Amino acid sequence: MWRRTFLLAASLALAGLALARDAEVPDSARQVELRNMLLQDCGSCHGLTLKGGLGPALRPENLAGKPREFLFETIRLGRPGTAMPPWGPILKDAEIAWLVDQLVSGKALQEAQR
Ligand code: HEC
Repeated sequence: MWRRTFLLAASLALAGLALARDAEVPDSARQVELRNMLLQDCGSCHGLTLKGGLGPALRPENLAGKPREFLFETIRLGRPGTAMPPWGPILKDAEIAWLVDQLVSGKALQEAQR
């Protein structure tokens, strides 16, 4: 009985931790890594200045009007049957959300033009 109560409390605490972690914004060192990844890995298909290539352009004007959730899920799950791979296995949800912000706001691009 106590053991079960303890296990329940422990798993609730862990679930809470996992949620808190996902809500986190990546720290600045991780942001540098993610930005490099965006321009190099994503850029290998979407263009080094995100103007498009094998994959479509990802500049703010290209993404305008597309729901964040749609972009988030595209990055997380990829697009089966196309070259767009799923990134969910290697990126946290909070990191994907941060990438969406960078793309939609054009911040990713400001970095690319430096
Ligand atoms: C191997 C090539 C490839 C790589 C690498 C790649 N993508 Fe894609 N991506 C594509 C293709 C192709 C599409 C279009 C799929 C389709 O036809 O619907 C796409 C679509 C997208 C879309 C949807 C755009 C829209 O207007 O609907 C987003 C957002 C996106 N990719 C982001 C990323 C991000 C972020 C990364 C890196 C973490 C990445 N992609 C890496 C090929 C790639």
